[in-house]
Amino acid sequence: MTNLRVLSIASEAVPLIKTGGLADVAGALPAAVAPHGVAMTTILPGYPKVLAALGKAKSVHAWPSLLGEPARLLGGKLGEHPLLVLDAPAYFQRDGGPYADGAARDWGDNWRRFGAFARAAADVAAGAVKGHAFDLAHAHDWQAAMTPAYLRYAGSALPSVMTIHNMAFQGHYGADVFPALGLPREAFAIDGVEYHGGVGFLKAGLEAASAITTVSPTYAREIRTAEFGMGLEGLIRSRGERVHGIVNGIDTREWNPESDPALAQRFGLRTLHKRVANKHALEAEFGLDSHDGPLFVVITRLTWQKGMDVLLEVIDHLVGLGGRLALLGSGDAAMEAGFHAAAARHPGKVAVRIGYDEALSHRMQAGGDAILVPSRFEPCGLTQLYGLAYGCVPVVSRTGGLADTVVDANLAALAAGAATGVQCNAVTYGALADAIDRTIALHRQPDTWRAIQRAGMKSDFSWGRSGKAYADLYASLVEAA
Ligand code: ADP
Ligand code: GLC
Repeated sequence: MTNLRVLSIASEAVPLIKTGGLADVAGALPAAVAPHGVAMTTILPGYPKVLAALGKAKSVHAWPSLLGEPARLLGGKLGEHPLLVLDAPAYFQRDGGPYADGAARDWGDNWRRFGAFARAAADVAAGAVKGHAFDLAHAHDWQAAMTPAYLRYAGSALPSVMTIHNMAFQGHYGADVFPALGLPREAFAIDGVEYHGGVGFLKAGLEAASAITTVSPTYAREIRTAEFGMGLEGLIRSRGERVHGIVNGIDTREWNPESDPALAQRFGLRTLHKRVANKHALEAEFGLDSHDGPLFVVITRLTWQKGMDVLLEVIDHLVGLGGRLALLGSGDAAMEAGFHAAAARHPGKVAVRIGYDEALSHRMQAGGDAILVPSRFEPCGLTQLYGLAYGCVPVVSRTGGLADTVVDANLAALAAGAATGVQCNAVTYGALADAIDRTIALHRQPDTWRAIQRAGMKSDFSWGRSGKAYADLYASLVEAA
């Protein structure tokens, strides 16, 4: 098999820097496509955390001025796979997060930071760095989306893939930023980077890329509609057959209950009875009452997307039915306060950790009975996949990747032994309360519950099929070019 050389352009990747699922996916992709003849190199911005992990690295290229600031390219490793890091101190050497400062305000120069990142990635993909040649560029989300546009306006024939992990974030800026992006005048056009009179990064990438993917088949259909397309539905529809839905897998080296070092007690399909030790440990860790009743967990960004406002309304109902809730998350300040208030109202029944804690998220998947994911939209979603792998039954809204990965415990699915979770019809008080009622009723039947857990643990959440789907797509685009 010939090796295709792909440059994956992402603004975050596990294990170096993570704010959400994009990092899990970008971190897992090189290993997912490797068995299918793809040699993937990842390029990341040189945030302090990334540079610290890199240690003493070799500089392989330099730009005297990248959209106005000097930058160099460092070589390193992302796990076992090649990594390039854009060290541009003026853009990336700052305290705070990758996209926002410590007070959660977006950096005012994000357009220049990620414009520069994409410009550099386009140069690298097109062969500017000796010893690093590529057959295709794969850009993830708006932060990388200008890469296909830069390639296009540089006249490069290199094929490119643009993956949408979340249509809600588009990188939309005023027309005044256009001159500083260093694109030819003609790029400021309706079929170029222009969007509602300004510059749209994601829009530009979707126009320029050879193919578009998103992270589940259902979301690929949903973004053709006004409800989910967030203004770009017309463009998505116009690209027709070139839009593909490829569902995310999970990294089973990081997420395996049989070998997970974070757990109080490891377990597997054949040793499911051992799992209860993790539940007791989790109850103790959260200061919750300890009993056999259902323990719900939530691990999420606290945002409107994730339906957390509706969960806040349903908590009293959940507790009234004998349920308990442990939540780990951060985000919207009003939601954080709401969950703190719920915990104060229901001591021993509801407990909240505000913050980001990777190891705790593993312990929660291992100790919770069910994980609640009531998202209003969810391109793929990963926490329900981790739930499946860990016997933590997902209770999800029927949208995007949640609809594609969780089989609802309706009568037919239960009879066929296919049920892996509970789907809720809508993100409303009534629908979520109903899904919680159904979950609690199922949990009262231990044999049925165990069958649902087992079916989930056996379901295919690996990267196998999707790794091949990406590789096949790359190969078809390279061939067509
Ligand atoms: P999104 O990327 O939209 O936030 P995903 O479900 O795709 O949603 O991915 C979220 C990722 O971030 C998962 O790996 C999840 O476990 C993790 N995560 C979210 N919030 C937290 C948190 N507070 N602490 C630890 N991990 C978290
Ligand atoms: C985005 C989406 C999430 C998806 C993740 C990885 O953050 O919100 O649904 O799982 O990207 O593709």
